[in-house]
Amino acid sequence: MKILITGGTGMVGSAFNNIETDHELVLVGRQDYKLDQIEPAKWMMQDIKPDAIIHLAAQVGGLKANMDYAGDFYRNNIRINTNVLDAAKIFEVGKVISLLSTCVYPDAATYPLIENQIHDGDPHSSNYAYAYAKRMLDVQSRAYRKQYGCNFITAIPNNLFGENDNFHLENSHVIPAMIRKIYEAKLNNKDVILWGDGSPLREFTYSQDLAEILLFLLEHYDEPPPINIGNTHEVSIKEVAQTIVEILNFEGEIIWDTTKPKGQFRKPSDNSKLLELGWREENYTNFRKALTNVCQHVILKYPHLRGIE
Ligand SMILES: NC(=O)c1ccc[n+]([C@@H]2O[C@H](COP(=O)([O-])OP(=O)(O)OC[C@H]3O[C@@H](n4cnc5c(N)ncnc54)[C@H](OP(=O)(O)O)[C@@H]3O)[C@@H](O)[C@H]2O)c1
Repeated sequence: MKILITGGTGMVGSAFNNIETDHELVLVGRQDYKLDQIEPAKWMMQDIKPDAIIHLAAQVGGLKANMDYAGDFYRNNIRINTNVLDAAKIFEVGKVISLLSTCVYPDAATYPLIENQIHDGDPHSSNYAYAYAKRMLDVQSRAYRKQYGCNFITAIPNNLFGENDNFHLENSHVIPAMIRKIYEAKLNNKDVILWGDGSPLREFTYSQDLAEILLFLLEHYDEPPPINIGNTHEVSIKEVAQTIVEILNFEGEIIWDTTKPKGQFRKPSDNSKLLELGWREENYTNFRKALTNVCQHVILKYPHLRGIE
């Protein structure tokens, strides 16, 4: 199959460069086709003629960017998703897998997060615009399936990390921010200050595993409801920091600034649907191993990393 991957220059998209597969993968980024406009979305289908699409392109960011640019996050994501699904319908693409995120779940969800809860209440106020745009991707996928018979599915990953992550200090997620802070503290012989007390538990999925799972879904999942696909192994923020300290041989102190918010204690999700399809827990890369890969990449490339240059 010829598989088009939108968002191919991003963190998840670039993980497909290391995947061994018999499929032909065509990765595209924003410089190839600006998908917030319909014409480039149609040109993309005309040029590539894909059998299937893994749709990753999105405006993605950390807490501050989501709050400061809520309007842009909503408009751009709604446009990108609408255009990609519309163009895929017009060009009769056989299957589209689109990514949602566990942050689309209601703020007052019951745990573990199960797929049928995603529209049950407001998402967290810090990223409601991004989250509602993502919820509409589920609505559009199901509506096009119902009216036009399109095989459009959606998958829900939890917190992702990987080599080509965004290492911007204000705009990044917890793992790249911590790696950068600890690595720079090591280079400058300083201690490092991290927010909160490190007690919250989080689930993290390695971008490389996500790429494998999306190819797995291409062959094993054709149902309208979204499917949770993240690694449900929980790690405390303190454990993440300690593991990075060990990998980077950081000899300074970690100072936890408990005056700063630490976030919700747990946000576990349920991936039993994925496991029922035949994906196995042991297929996820060991957390320390995945984190080691990312830290080694940082050591090799620093400061030439996304979000630093
Ligand atoms: N990162 C996470 O923790 C996380 C968690 C859950 C779900 N997700 C979802 O996973 C998917 C991939 O995320 P990621 O972390 O890989 O994001 P990323 O690294 O920020 O990559 C985003 C990709 O989208 C492309 N893009 C952005 N605006 C575009 C536009 N207007 N037209 C065409 N392409 C555009 C970017 O192209 P350029 O590089 O050329 O700008 C880039 O390839 C997204 O759908 C995201 O919502 C991510």
